[in-house]
Amino acid sequence: MKEIEITSVLQVYDSFNELPDDIQQLMQQSKLIRDKAYAPYSEFLVGAALLLKNGEVVLGNNQENACYPSGLCAERTAIYYAGANFPDVPILKMALSAKSLKYQLLIPTPPCGACRQAIAEYESKQKESIEIYFMGETGKIVRSNSLVNLLPLTFDNSYLVSGLK
Ligand code: THU
Repeated sequence: MKEIEITSVLQVYDSFNELPDDIQQLMQQSKLIRDKAYAPYSEFLVGAALLLKNGEVVLGNNQENACYPSGLCAERTAIYYAGANFPDVPILKMALSAKSLKYQLLIPTPPCGACRQAIAEYESKQKESIEIYFMGETGKIVRSNSLVNLLPLTFDNSYLVSGLK
């Protein structure tokens, strides 16, 4: 038996103003679409803004349903739109923001596990990393240069195709 250690390196920005200009713009779009989320049950609003390699920006927010499991997160709403409409265009960057209508959300809010798995699929499909920034309503912003940092031991199609990494 031997032990392996898995490490992730993330960057933390103290405030919005510290972000690079292009990310400030993308995050601003994420916040605007976040505030249009349909989240009457959780009152937890999430926005996703994706910058594609052709310059296109794809936006999504969470869409809830009276039958709770039928709802969908912001990240998957956006990434599936990108996959459907721009199947051959890589996704370069993703800005995620969240806000509660019940309290002030000050902690950077990462994508849920199911969304990480969905994002992983597109990273492996396009063979190019997706840079991810996420924040709460205000406060610190976390950056990951790839989805892999957020989902070590990612299950991807290599297990289905050849069994080799
Ligand atoms: N939600 C997202 O949109 N993205 C996430 O990564 C976490 C959770 C949504 C789903 C649901 O509408 C609400 O936030 C509360 O979980």
